Amino acid sequence: MKKTTKPVLVTGDRPTGKLHLGHLVGSLKNRVEMQNSGKYECFAFIADMQALTDNAKNPKKIRESVLEVAMDNLAVGMDPNKTTLFIQSQVPQLCELTQIYLNLVTVSRLERNPTVKSEIKEKGFERNIPAGFLIYPVSQTADTTAFGAKFIPTGEDQEPMHEQGREIVRSFNSIYGDILIESEGVFSDNKACLRLMGLDGKAKMSKSLGNCIYISDDSATVKAKIWEMYTDPTHIKVTDPGKVKGNVVFSYLDAFVKPDSFVRFLPEYKNLDELKAHYTKGGLGDVKVKQFLYQVIEDELTPIREKRKYYENHIEEVLEIYRKGSEHAREVAQATLDRVRDAIGINYFNDKDFIDYYKNKFKK
Ligand code: TRP
Repeated sequence: MKKTTKPVLVTGDRPTGKLHLGHLVGSLKNRVEMQNSGKYECFAFIADMQALTDNAKNPKKIRESVLEVAMDNLAVGMDPNKTTLFIQSQVPQLCELTQIYLNLVTVSRLERNPTVKSEIKEKGFERNIPAGFLIYPVSQTADTTAFGAKFIPTGEDQEPMHEQGREIVRSFNSIYGDILIESEGVFSDNKACLRLMGLDGKAKMSKSLGNCIYISDDSATVKAKIWEMYTDPTHIKVTDPGKVKGNVVFSYLDAFVKPDSFVRFLPEYKNLDELKAHYTKGGLGDVKVKQFLYQVIEDELTPIREKRKYYENHIEEVLEIYRKGSEHAREVAQATLDRVRDAIGINYFNDKDFIDYYKNKFKK
């Protein structure tokens, strides 16, 4: 195993479908940037075991999404030469760590996790919560601590997981000694990226609400989706004053516009403030703004699409990347697990103190 002193970054995606623009701006861009900075030792994985916690009866969906999520990651720029890419279920050490951590959390603490709470509502579990689902924040703590994560780039909805993870780490370290590392979430500093609205203006872009643009959508699909986007229903004629707040097109521009977007695609405006001011005053039509957004998003997605095409035509290469990555992840997780077992004192056959204790005890 390669020794490193760089801080470790770990992140994961549930394979319940293809990744969308919310994932792209909320978490993928950050992880690619951090990877490319060369400042971190990086791990990025597909959280299939976690996805099964609320899809036990539909393993087909998970199985069919694993490679989609793998290709999405590779397409946006995750690089197997810089990051260990792996699949959660191929690292059984994570399950063992989970079992050990479970003794350090209470059921009522798990029930208070705000993200889990809202997911329970969303999925209509009521009192019939799969036990595995309730404890997924604990398994998520295994995912990160196994690799010594310091930083976890995710969507901001994951903060309660990070918080619960830190509690487990503190509890473990105070009982068994300083073994585990506390980690923190890394979120986009562009507010518009933290929670990308759905195409319909609903608070969140989400697969289950069917209001997404997928990273792998083709140009025609992206265009059709942008043309149907919710804007301001009171902005009927071009001359009408329009509202920017709650207007999906503008909220996406907030998330996607780059410093050079105006010079390249809409040079009659200097920046987004100018465009918003014109729209608010009246005299600027939706179609023109949508056309601009379409160009900005296409600019972002075109190179991603090309890369994805390559991997779609080289599935065996994708599999090999994840097979090798999973092997490396197992080694790293096993090293952590060995230290954890030592600290708890359940590493009997390799524990000289344990053996000597019994030898001495029965000597006379
Ligand atoms: N819960 C995360 C999500 O829904 C996925 C995930 C699982 C994860 N394990 C992780 C993210 C560890 C970061 C680190 O997107």
